[in-house]
Amino acid sequence: MQILSRELKHIAIIMDGNGRWALQKGMEREDGHVQGAETAKNIIQFCSNIQLPYLTLYAFSKENWDRPKKEVSSIMRLLSQTIKKDLQSLMDLNISLLIAGEKNRLPLYVKKSLEIAVQKTAKNTGMKMVLALSYSGREEIVSSLNKIIESKNKNINEDLVEKHLYCPEVPSPDILIRTGGEKRISNFLIWQIAYSELFFEDVQWPDFRAENLSNIIERFYERKRTFGNIE
Ligand code: FPP
Repeated sequence: MQILSRELKHIAIIMDGNGRWALQKGMEREDGHVQGAETAKNIIQFCSNIQLPYLTLYAFSKENWDRPKKEVSSIMRLLSQTIKKDLQSLMDLNISLLIAGEKNRLPLYVKKSLEIAVQKTAKNTGMKMVLALSYSGREEIVSSLNKIIESKNKNINEDLVEKHLYCPEVPSPDILIRTGGEKRISNFLIWQIAYSELFFEDVQWPDFRAENLSNIIERFYERKRTFGNIE
């Protein structure tokens, strides 16, 4: 088993390439998401096994709402079904689930299954897994600022903005991975990734395996992080 050093606490992943993976195989885009959910489960299990403290998965962006209705509905169904079906596995792995994003835009049945899973896993003490859903990094910052305005605090500083993000208990990612070959951030955790190490992988998400992640972790340890300082 891979041994993590304390400097690696949080991995965040943009799970890109489901659609292309399916189309390349003559399948429907939706089949790519189904296979993508299987990959997500394997990666969650691997991260829990190596005792990673925090994992964030970008499952659905604010911008994804603009996709054709059929695809949006199938991703929503898949999310709800997967969460319901695999809730016991989350319990067995002692994982607690958190949601980042504008939950109110989600269909009621999805919100319900998420709420049940968040509540049921709240006391688990193992890995914290954040699902970014209906998520936009810019919107997260605006929402933080609005909460500060409501609190009437006039001394806005970085700590205060951080305290009002969706999941203030989650530290900034050490590693940000994007699969699917594109080199973009796509509005993901734009506040939190100021000093994250970025990895853009050519493999499509459904083909991403624990070995790929293990290899990224090894490459991460080879990088020098100075956070703007000098050695
Ligand atoms: C990006 O690929 C993927 C999505 C927008 C959806 C991801 C959702 C899942 C994998 C389900 C996860 C479920 C759980 C419970 C973690 P894309 O469609 O943008 O691919 P493309 O760039 O090839 O078109």
